[in-house]
Amino acid sequence: MDRNLTASSSKVRIPRSDVWSGDSGSVTMLGQVEQGGIMGLFDHWHPVLSISKLSSKPTKITLGGRDITLFRTASGNIGAIDDCCVHRRASLSKGTVVGERLQCGYHGWTYDIEGEAESPGTPKLRACARHYDVTVNEGFIWIKSAGVEAELPKFDTAGYEFVCAKPYAIKAPLEVVLDNFTEVEHTPTTHANFGYDLSRMSEVKTTVEGNEASVRVVNTGPQKKTPWIVQQLAGLKTGDTFTDDWVTYFSPVYTIYEQFWNDPKNGKERRDRYRIWVFFNPINNDETQLVIFAYLRARTAARRTFIQLTRPILSLIVDIEVVCDVKMIESLADKSPEIEGMKLSRFDKVLGMNRERIDRIYRGRSVTTREGVNV
Ligand code: FES
Ligand SMILES: [Fe+2]
Repeated sequence: MDRNLTASSSKVRIPRSDVWSGDSGSVTMLGQVEQGGIMGLFDHWHPVLSISKLSSKPTKITLGGRDITLFRTASGNIGAIDDCCVHRRASLSKGTVVGERLQCGYHGWTYDIEGEAESPGTPKLRACARHYDVTVNEGFIWIKSAGVEAELPKFDTAGYEFVCAKPYAIKAPLEVVLDNFTEVEHTPTTHANFGYDLSRMSEVKTTVEGNEASVRVVNTGPQKKTPWIVQQLAGLKTGDTFTDDWVTYFSPVYTIYEQFWNDPKNGKERRDRYRIWVFFNPINNDETQLVIFAYLRARTAARRTFIQLTRPILSLIVDIEVVCDVKMIESLADKSPEIEGMKLSRFDKVLGMNRERIDRIYRGRSVTTREGVNV
């Protein structure tokens, strides 16, 4: 399958409901100014659904507390509009696609991909549902507010082979999920295979470097004990020097991981290197959807073929590790995103840096109070 499908963007047009009136309004945790204000979160592209999951039936997704209907028209265009009919609020995801329009199941009003509504019973009536810009990239449907400028995240996968792309829903706020995915102190005890040796955790070096737009963390230390079969498949050995080097960006919130192993005796890099993109989509204030795109380096044609043949197993290995994180995050005694009151370690410096950028870049708030965290 071509993983970079042709983009299918709807035309640029700002619905009245999205124009910032300049009202201050009240700000929710998701950064939405609720009364006629700008919606920071929707100003970024988010991968919301695998293209393979969108059939001829409309599908509802939830992002930033909003239910949104995705639908594919007869000609193949993809529309994204609020999942609420402007007539009497029926759920449009329960409607039907008829040609180039989505038909509401209640009274039969129809919508095009730009949200323009037509009423069979009152043809002169003019109405419009909020719609979103849509594109397809890496096998996923991405959406953002119609008409806003936003850069689509880049996928530099040259020399790498696709392993898997998968969403996971986690019952925890964005910050709490990102906290887990941007420190390695949990890897000895939380993870099944990838991570550091608990008895040698004090040897693990971690460096954190932030700039205006991103935060980079580089970790190196001894790989923990891992089953023989995983060592063969993942091209590593217990005791290798494991490097987990990542950069987190905030438009939208996502992290790109570079993971590799070196022979501790001669420093030579092992066969495999993973490159993994993890997107953190807030479903609402209490739930976050991860979307993971995993790639594995393939330096030769034979290696590429091997990865293709073993893809289900490699995908399972990635899945096992992610599920370890999901279970741990969901079992936390307190899932408040606030870090005040926590006793933080040397691995947690990134928590405050991430929050400052989530507030400023992702949610578009001007308040920056959480950069400094004493560890
Ligand atoms: S509620 Fe959708 S057409 Fe009436
Ligand atoms: Fe983890």
